[in-house]
Amino acid sequence: MYQAQALFLFQAAQEFGIDLLSSYVIGDHPADVELARNAGASGIYVLTGHGSKHVGELVHPFPVVANLEKAADLILKENETISEASKIIRQGGVVAFPTETVYGLGADAFNPVAVARVFEIKARPHFDPLIVHIANQPDLERLADRIPEKARQLAEKFWPGPLTLVLPKKDQVPEIVTSGLPSVAIRMPRHNLTLKLILKAQTPIVGPSANPFGYLSPTTAQHVKEQLGSKVDYILDGGPCEVGVESTIISFVEDVPRLLRPGGIALEEIETLIGPINLSPSSKNKPEAPGMLPRHYAPRTRMSLDWSEEDFWRWKNQGKRIGLLSFQGERASLPFDQIEILSPQGDLRQAAASLFASLHHLDKAGLDLILVRKIPESALVERLWIG
Ligand code: TXA
Ligand code: MG
Repeated sequence: MYQAQALFLFQAAQEFGIDLLSSYVIGDHPADVELARNAGASGIYVLTGHGSKHVGELVHPFPVVANLEKAADLILKENETISEASKIIRQGGVVAFPTETVYGLGADAFNPVAVARVFEIKARPHFDPLIVHIANQPDLERLADRIPEKARQLAEKFWPGPLTLVLPKKDQVPEIVTSGLPSVAIRMPRHNLTLKLILKAQTPIVGPSANPFGYLSPTTAQHVKEQLGSKVDYILDGGPCEVGVESTIISFVEDVPRLLRPGGIALEEIETLIGPINLSPSSKNKPEAPGMLPRHYAPRTRMSLDWSEEDFWRWKNQGKRIGLLSFQGERASLPFDQIEILSPQGDLRQAAASLFASLHHLDKAGLDLILVRKIPESALVERLWIG
């Protein structure tokens, strides 16, 4: 969603092969740094020249430094932080990252165990799927199985920007990311540090807002530090978020696009481009939070958490086909028709990472009943079984 005022920069980029995302405009007038922003480059405001006179006129949050030398320092430091943060992502760590809406809690979208840690840190229920952040078109193709024309139009106009598209997912997208749903939520954030992070890490990054479940969404690195500081491996400080409310979410799972969450891009702007979209069934004024809608994945096969060995034998003698979903292999010695063990090593994160995939396996096995062994002591596992 970059602007026409920067046309000459786009032209220069094309003619001379300049990568605007990794370019900077250093200037002493708000129009200079706005130009950077409109072109998808990064702006740094210096206080030398006219800088200190006009600093109060800055419309968007830009880094402000004393002089050119400090601007150079900032660029070098940015490169270092991105290298460090991307290394952590690649190694399966969790990095809080800035976007134009709110800070996100990031992990490699293709690493289920890393994603499980995001759920854990946020204390987020596993039936509430995550948004995957991308930096370019190939990332989109890696995640989405089908991209309807209207979704393409929205992406072209509003990305990078506060818009999330829910699209049919590719099989490779781990089930923990989508909470077992056949669709995946995708957005390209408008924040250069994060776009660079995703490119450098060479993987899309999941990111719920970086607040504990039930807390306010963080719009500065300091908020993240206060709420989650000790639990994340790295906080990428990208200054204050300029939008401050979450992205608008539009689903393309049905024939007519549907609004799942109002947010940073107004509904009217979206409808102007692609025509009418469905609002959530409940009411026009109060669309429900997607996480609250009854569209979570739940197996079609009956499940029971509360059963004894006697029950098992009674059902077995009735000729029922019975499956077991077991944490570490407990009760697996009984003659089940199919067994899924979440983590033979007893690792909770591993178990969370494989939960939905295991449920899918069991659901497809033609069973009459799925029995679950839960671990009563663990709050995490209590949450795993919800939904
Ligand atoms: O602005 C934003 O969107 C921020 C920044 C960090 O990008 N992220 C954010 O994530 O708000 P989160 O996790 O707080 O909200 C994501 C919402 C949840 O309500 C979730 O239910 C919904 O997106 N969602 C994710 N995947 C979905 C799917 N496949 N189908 C329907 N809803 C989905
Ligand atoms: Mg949130």
